[in-house]
Amino acid sequence: MNLPHHLTIQKGHLHIAGQDCVALAREYGTPLYVTSEDRIIEQFESYEKALGSRYPKVRVLFAAKANGNLAILRALAQKGAGADVFSSGELQLALEAGMDPERLLFNGSSKTPADLELAVEKGVRVSLDSLDELHQLDAAAKKAGRTVKVSFRVNPALEVPTHPKIATGLATSKFGIPHNEIPSAYREALSCNNVQPVGIHCHIGSQILAIEPFVRAAEVMVRIVQELTKMGVHLEFVDLGGGLGIPYHHDTDPAPTPEDYAAKVVPIFRAGMEACGIAPELWVEPGRSLVADSTVLLTRVNSTKKAHKRFANVDAGFNLLIRPAMYDAYHEVIVANKADAPLTTEYTVTGPICESGDILAPDRRLPELAAGDIIAVIDAGAYGFAMSSQYNCRPRCPEILIRGKTAGRMRRAETVSDITATMESPPWQQ
Ligand code: LLP
Repeated sequence: MNLPHHLTIQKGHLHIAGQDCVALAREYGTPLYVTSEDRIIEQFESYEKALGSRYPKVRVLFAAKANGNLAILRALAQKGAGADVFSSGELQLALEAGMDPERLLFNGSSKTPADLELAVEKGVRVSLDSLDELHQLDAAAKKAGRTVKVSFRVNPALEVPTHPKIATGLATSKFGIPHNEIPSAYREALSCNNVQPVGIHCHIGSQILAIEPFVRAAEVMVRIVQELTKMGVHLEFVDLGGGLGIPYHHDTDPAPTPEDYAAKVVPIFRAGMEACGIAPELWVEPGRSLVADSTVLLTRVNSTKKAHKRFANVDAGFNLLIRPAMYDAYHEVIVANKADAPLTTEYTVTGPICESGDILAPDRRLPELAAGDIIAVIDAGAYGFAMSSQYNCRPRCPEILIRGKTAGRMRRAETVSDITATMESPPWQQ
């Protein structure tokens, strides 16, 4: 199997960033998320280089929803990253990680009054999803005696080749303002006293393995920017969103890089801005392509069973990685302690959750398995822990971060007491 350079096989064991996955599983227990910080930084720097070598003013905002561990946000903040935040919680995480409020964009299609007040208080730019939200934010800013910089999220009405649940710029999508209504939205914003429209934003979807949809989105955005500039809107930034996919099928998926993306998208953007006589910052918001392949989820085989087919029952399920159950997503699996053994037997790798849909990896050819083997689920760093739950009263597992030659915990294991800590007895039970 093609593996990125931070995943290697040495003496039959899978290693991540030079650390033996089997030894990590022994030391910290399973299930266990293990992440290479160096890999994340490498991906971040490849975005900066690919975009920055083609356009002078570039900002890479990490989509914090993909992986909200503070240690990861901190590592990215130290490299100058900003963040796309989608809730007050993500906003607070990004600030706590040391990110500059100027480098954040508060996105979201359903913000609460408290979200808007927090954005005003922290001086964060807001991407607006409706005119209703525009007026609510204007009122919140007025109350605080401030002016807030805003963008609108454009719905460019583009079909994209991805799972329907993660296509976000379809004409029928819940996100954004239809592209033909965008000029009137800006007109309305210009008439508000406490918001200043300085940006424009779109995000067409996620896990997109072709560059062409991003090119089409950039073309739509350029057309809109031209119209807005003529209307007298002074744009400081144009945010083209995230969405670049990763090769979950390691041997067959195309693997577009930030370089491939930038080579096609930036010239269109740049020419469009030059035609308008403006030079706004170019923002992008990658999530998955920064963090997905940095991480493996290590899970132990509890038992094997031969029924109508062979099952490997492991200790991580959709409580820790919901992508296979939710999107029929494919993740490669490698038996970490038998990483160069012949793939002789077909198994369906199933989690411990009481649901038939709790299948991590159906029908995979693997080495013959026995209880105690350690299976590594690859590419688990985006929307993995971030979408985990405590279903079946299963405390979440720890997360390990590796930097250079050192590994350390970036999240401890939860306990059942953590789960019950927020529960209360109603008065009649006291
Ligand atoms: N910007 C906005 C406004 C977004 O909504 C998202 C992702 C991103 C950026 C980052 O997109 P990325 O570069 O990661 O594709 N849970 C799903 C993915 C949901 C994506 C939600 N929005 C999954 O596991 O595939």
